[in-house]
Amino acid sequence: MKAIVLAAGKSTRFKSNKHKALHDLLGKTILERILNTLWELQPKQIHFVLGYQLEQIAAILTNAETYIEQIEQLGTAHALQTGLKNLEDDGNGFFVTCVDTPLVRTETLKRLIKKTQDCSAAIGLLTANLHNPSGYGRIVKNENNLIQGIIEEKDLTNEQKQIQEVNAGLYYFNMPIQQLSDRLKSISNKNKQNEYYLTDIISPDLKIVSEICEDSDEILGINSRIDLEKAIQALNVRTIKCLQEKGVTFLSPESCLISPEAKIEADTIIGPNCQIYGSSQIGSNCYIAGNSFIQSSIIAENTQIRYSQIIESQIGNNCSIGPFANLRPGSQLANNVVIGDFVEVKNSQIAQNSKIPHLSYIGDSSIGEDVNIGAGTITANFDAISGNKNKTQIGNGVKIGSNSVLVAPIEIADNCFIGAGTIVTESVRKSNSLILSRCPQSIKEDWVLKKKEELG
Ligand code: UD1
Ligand code: MG
Repeated sequence: MKAIVLAAGKSTRFKSNKHKALHDLLGKTILERILNTLWELQPKQIHFVLGYQLEQIAAILTNAETYIEQIEQLGTAHALQTGLKNLEDDGNGFFVTCVDTPLVRTETLKRLIKKTQDCSAAIGLLTANLHNPSGYGRIVKNENNLIQGIIEEKDLTNEQKQIQEVNAGLYYFNMPIQQLSDRLKSISNKNKQNEYYLTDIISPDLKIVSEICEDSDEILGINSRIDLEKAIQALNVRTIKCLQEKGVTFLSPESCLISPEAKIEADTIIGPNCQIYGSSQIGSNCYIAGNSFIQSSIIAENTQIRYSQIIESQIGNNCSIGPFANLRPGSQLANNVVIGDFVEVKNSQIAQNSKIPHLSYIGDSSIGEDVNIGAGTITANFDAISGNKNKTQIGNGVKIGSNSVLVAPIEIADNCFIGAGTIVTESVRKSNSLILSRCPQSIKEDWVLKKKEELG
């Protein structure tokens, strides 16, 4: 089996400077989503028909996919005819899809292929019954329920507009390439759009079967921003339902966006307005409270995250993050770590039982076990002269007083104490040291009264 993807169209209805297939659909492009589904069918070849923004699309195809250029976009029949050029006929059927239908399930395509083969039909069509079918080609059947043709929206009579069964734009052709190619050549463009419609291949002299998609969201074709929004919602509902069935609680599912690649274990609770993207993994019994944004991160079990952003980071068991923490790429937290409010961590390792409870910046640092970092502590990692980011190494058991600055590169040995307000510029390699850099405090008694007297 081979698959041909029609993707040369200009997508004018999408109103974008970027090909619609390159737009994001919950963490992957529309193109990647349809490609993943097609590869699951294990085809021998996936062949693209490209035109508009050919270079941009070709750049993200892998060596496993091939493509041909459709120089003028004259319609889907012309696109397929272009796609069939130089395509070797191995005697097997082949699958044709539009690039803008990314929600179709692999199992549905397998059913379509099987039905076409079992019925020895020449063409298998995927269809669905829609409440609001406008915009789609309608399936016209005769009194014996046999498919007679597909009529495009703009060419429909008022009576045909009532037909609710629509064409998904996904076809399995079970006929020799040469025969299909000859039929495509005979299609005319005498219609309202003056395009060569692939749908005109359907003719009563061919045996045509249809596989009706029960979940009509699967056939959603993305032609406009409104369609994209519908597709995001549909994929999101599908993803969240699947997680709910596995034991995840969503307090307000309609306000969350979760990518289908995310894995969340049972008994974790997700609050309102959370976004969880990429291949993030969240273990069981976690509580992800409202407005958290988690991308490509791994979170173990029993961890709480409140109103925080976590990007490309790893968090251990029993951690507490936020409210309002920002874990940037490369943050690695062991078990029982506390990251409190307004704390930013970047490219740093924090060992178990350490706490950074308030208002700190920790960057390019390695922090030992049982460390306590006082409010307002900063690791000054950026050398503005060289432009380098330098490392801070803090040993086990170190306690850092509030409002301290550690000017990197710097190392602090185990169990040292740093007094509040200290600016540490030299490494301390002897453990159990007290480090202070502030001036001794002086008190001038009655200074205020005397000053006032002086001023009269
Ligand atoms: C198409 C179908 C319609 C179906 C709908 C399902 C036709 C004539 N109509 O309509 O019956 O209900 O999909 O979503 O086929 N393309 C090319 N070259 C061209 C023109 C288009 O490669 O010259 C590609 C586009 O990039 C796109 C696909 O073909 O991926 C379909 O084109 P599109 O304009 O989206 O067709 P629809 O109006 O959605
Ligand atoms: Mg379309």
